[in-house]
Amino acid sequence: MYTVYKKHEEYGDNMEYIKLKSRAKINLTLDVIARRDDGYHDLEMIMQTVGLYDSIFIKKTDKDEIFIKTNLHYLPTDERNITYKAAKLIKDEFGISNGVYIELTKRIPVAAGLAGGSGNGAAVIKGMNRLFDLDLSTKKMMELGEHLGSDVPYCLMEGTALAKGRGEILTQLNPCPHFYVLLAKPDISVSTASVYKNLDLKMVKKHPNTNAVLAAIANGDKTGISTGLCNVLETVTINQRPIVKEIKNFIAEQGSCGVLMSGSGPTVFALFEKIETAKEAAKKVKEKFNIKDVYVTEIYNPSGEKGRN
Ligand code: C5P
Repeated sequence: MYTVYKKHEEYGDNMEYIKLKSRAKINLTLDVIARRDDGYHDLEMIMQTVGLYDSIFIKKTDKDEIFIKTNLHYLPTDERNITYKAAKLIKDEFGISNGVYIELTKRIPVAAGLAGGSGNGAAVIKGMNRLFDLDLSTKKMMELGEHLGSDVPYCLMEGTALAKGRGEILTQLNPCPHFYVLLAKPDISVSTASVYKNLDLKMVKKHPNTNAVLAAIANGDKTGISTGLCNVLETVTINQRPIVKEIKNFIAEQGSCGVLMSGSGPTVFALFEKIETAKEAAKKVKEKFNIKDVYVTEIYNPSGEKGRN
């Protein structure tokens, strides 16, 4: 549970504040079922939170203003920033006249397929709920989060989940068993909208066996999970950005249990049993592809649930 602190001495005032962690996600499976008339796609995905996180600090202010500060100079700090949108949504919905000061410390790579932005939006909803004593249920916060992006409801839920529809129809699953997770993002940007736009469902040769992976998760079958990793969006992103495939192939030779692109990419993730092997693979992939965004983290489930091993 998050604590609301009563005093923020650093700023010389008595305004309440809260600190939150906004974690990244990976997709163990991602299937696209159909293109919809509203511009979105019906999906079926198994989502998993990992330990890599951005830090978010939110403080109440007296002024009716949303002020954002971030460590990434290229991120907008106005209404284009998802934390701004989330704060505004909550302020408008509940007629809050106070403002908020938000400090966003990014560690999760941006536009990477790791739902970093969606997680930030989700964290601000959660934070404002507590800071302003709104007493919102997770279900209500998830409904509000849907307005910010398809992955936001999942980011409010966290852990292991099956997502359907646009991504907002969620079923919490038994926690996925523990793995160390290597994340490697090539130094390129990928637009989610353009990946979906360029997806030709008729050209997809391999769909995930979602039911098999669901069964593997339920049984704590790590081999079943590792061998079931599959993401249909790889067809589009790898076609446009062959480096994603090169990174996948390289990591697959470094002792990983399984390797896949996350979301619309371009981040590649790999599951490992041993942290030493994951760290060694991280070092090698960093050197070989000259990329800076390489991290070793692990499967994260809320309440410290480790899943069946
Ligand atoms: O919902 P979000 O803003 O994160 O989605 C970004 C873009 O990804 C959408 O504008 C849409 O083009 C595509 N998308 C989709 N089907 C989904 C989720 C996202 O086509 N289920």
